[in-house]
Amino acid sequence: MWRHELTAATAEQTQGFAAKLAGVIRKGDVLCLQGTLGSGKTTFSQGIIQALLPGEEVTSPTFNLVKTYPLPGFDLWHFDLYRLDRREQLWELGIEEALMEGALLIEWPEIAASLLPASRLTVKLEADAATEKRTIRLEAEGGLWNERLKGVL
Ligand SMILES: Nc1ncnc2c1ncn2[C@@H]1O[C@H](COP(=O)(O)OP(=O)(O)O)[C@@H](O)[C@H]1O
Ligand SMILES: [Mg+2]
Repeated sequence: MWRHELTAATAEQTQGFAAKLAGVIRKGDVLCLQGTLGSGKTTFSQGIIQALLPGEEVTSPTFNLVKTYPLPGFDLWHFDLYRLDRREQLWELGIEEALMEGALLIEWPEIAASLLPASRLTVKLEADAATEKRTIRLEAEGGLWNERLKGVL
């Protein structure tokens, strides 16, 4: 298991880091965002999406559960599965098409875990009780993400 840890003192730093990661995202990628409410999963997603689509307004897909953003060559699917109550709903949301033809950012990915490729990148966000500091832990099986993120982080 490859692991890498960063700290972000502010929301802007979290987004700045996410923007760097955005530069290496390709079709077929799955990024899982884990952390409690308010830890920064949507903030991180905004950093990625706005780096790829400057000027795009990125809201949390809390109620629709998914929002797609067209990129050159593929769509980026932003899921928030917090309110998903049946696993079967994933198909209605288009998870199959997303996995076959797009790239995915998934907040609260646990319910979908068994469908996700082993090559996924997991981003764990942890808030500090007293400050705005976030600890950001990256985890991936195999060497794919280590290779890709060399020189980026
Ligand atoms: N270092 C930081 N990284 C990310 N968000 C931060 C940070 N410091 C403060 N925040 C704030 O914390 C909140 C995180 O909310 P959000 O991204 O919606 O969390 P989640 O999607 O995990 O529930 C935002 O209001 C953001 O501005
Ligand atoms: Mg969120």
